[in-house]
Amino acid sequence: MKRLLHIIFLILFFTSLTFTGLALAQNGGGVKKKRPLPHEYGRMIIGNYKELWPVREPSVPVVFDHWLHRARFTCRLCHVDIAFGMVAGTTGIKASDNIKGYYCGTCHNGEMVYNGRKVFDSCSENFQKEDIERCIRCHSLGKNVKREYDFYTFTEKLPRERFGNGIDWEKAEAEGLIKPIDFLEGVSIKSFSLEAPKDFDLEAKVEGIPNIIVSHKKHTVWNGCEVCHPDIFFVKKGITKFTCVNNFEGKYCGACHRTVAFPMLDCQRCHTKPVY
Ligand code: HEC
Ligand code: HEC
Ligand code: HEC
Ligand code: HEC
Ligand code: HEC
Ligand code: HEC
Repeated sequence: MKRLLHIIFLILFFTSLTFTGLALAQNGGGVKKKRPLPHEYGRMIIGNYKELWPVREPSVPVVFDHWLHRARFTCRLCHVDIAFGMVAGTTGIKASDNIKGYYCGTCHNGEMVYNGRKVFDSCSENFQKEDIERCIRCHSLGKNVKREYDFYTFTEKLPRERFGNGIDWEKAEAEGLIKPIDFLEGVSIKSFSLEAPKDFDLEAKVEGIPNIIVSHKKHTVWNGCEVCHPDIFFVKKGITKFTCVNNFEGKYCGACHRTVAFPMLDCQRCHTKPVY
């Protein structure tokens, strides 16, 4: 009986979210209606300087894919050490920042070696016609740019999941199929590492809805401590009050589990602990 109630509740919850929540859950804003394809999930369109474009090349927004970058670097490295904002459009990256070696230019400086190859340079003040090809590797919105990495070839051997990128990133990391870098010489500061507290349960507080097990350890691999504390969660259990609807709105767990980590649609990946 409880199981039946549980299923009915889930269906009700689902339908109540169909119009707002589910749209928000996968595309981070509810502006686009279509659910993103696996290779589009986590794609950021960065375009804060539209007014400059009529006069300066290259005149289109930048496309940044999380899948390619998160397979190689931790969230913490980019969002704490390099200081990219955790909300689209908030960073305010200037060409001059990239040229000085900040933001994208931390790695895209024409010098950093990754996998035995130099990572291509980012923006330049004085550039030649032949450099345009490099510019539009990033300034690529709406342009038919040939990519070095094809999503489906790149992720072929990674374990699957149903939503988001269609990849079980957690498993991919745990099995050593990807090894995201957490430290860059000259950029990151060597800090003493805090031990991750034990895994804990969050109670769903609704009869029949499975509780949630949160793994500090698994999250820390990607996020360190600083991505979550203190901006998203207080460092004390039970102080942060939220509901799953808040998650769907992009707060708390939804700060990541809507646009980059597996999306809110994937109820069972969080609600894992049976209560009946
Ligand atoms: C190589 C650097 C890099 C890595 C690694 C990275 N991010 Fe990001 N992230 C960015 C950039 C750049 C943006 C866009 C910022 C902007 O628009 O101002 C962004 C934006 C975001 C946003 C905002 C999304 C939105 O629609 O508002 C979230 C959430 C996020 N990242 C989470 C993560 C998580 C979780 C990980 C690890 C799994 C991660 N990022 C790894 C660079 C990175
Ligand atoms: C922490 C390091 C790092 C940061 C920061 C970073 N990238 Fe990258 N990016 C890489 C590496 C490494 C590659 C792979 C280069 C290669 O293999 O030639 C790459 C590849 C790319 C590609 C090539 C994709 C393809 O298939 O051709 C694009 C486009 C790109 N990055 C855009 C960006 C943008 C835009 C930013 C800033 C918003 C950014 N990256 C920030 C490390 C970084
Ligand atoms: C590695 C990725 C990358 C490459 C390659 C790149 N850019 Fe950028 N560029 C960015 C990002 C990110 C922004 C910020 C976009 C925004 O918010 O509108 C930017 C912004 C700009 C801007 C507008 C903002 C400002 O401060 O003036 C200009 C102009 C620019 N780039 C020129 C270039 C030129 C010219 C090239 C090629 C020589 C180039 N970029 C190559 C990532 C890149
Ligand atoms: C994915 C986000 C996330 C990351 C990353 C994270 N935490 Fe937490 N942490 C939480 C949440 C959620 C809670 C519980 C908040 C609540 O119940 O109100 C919590 C609670 C805590 C508590 C309080 C435990 C208690 O029993 O009161 C401590 C201490 C803590 N975290 C330390 C850390 C440390 C140290 C790290 C890095 C090694 C870390 N956290 C990384 C999300 C995170
Ligand atoms: C990223 C993890 C995550 C995902 C995915 C997720 N939930 Fe939750 N959910 C939570 C957490 C955490 C709570 C507990 C909040 C609290 O402390 O009260 C919760 C609580 C709930 C509750 C209890 C009432 C409330 O709003 O707090 C319901 C019902 C619920 N979730 C339904 C769902 C359904 C249906 C889905 C899928 C469409 C879903 N959840 C997906 C994390 C998640
Ligand atoms: C700072 C970003 C961030 C926040 C906030 C966050 N997560 Fe995650 N979470 C991740 C990333 C990254 C992964 C790795 C898997 C992926 O990217 O799909 C992950 C994986 C998980 C997993 C699968 C790993 C496992 O334990 O088996 C669960 C479950 C989960 N998160 C639940 C939660 C819940 C519940 C909350 C809120 C209390 C939360 N997360 C908040 C980034 C975040």
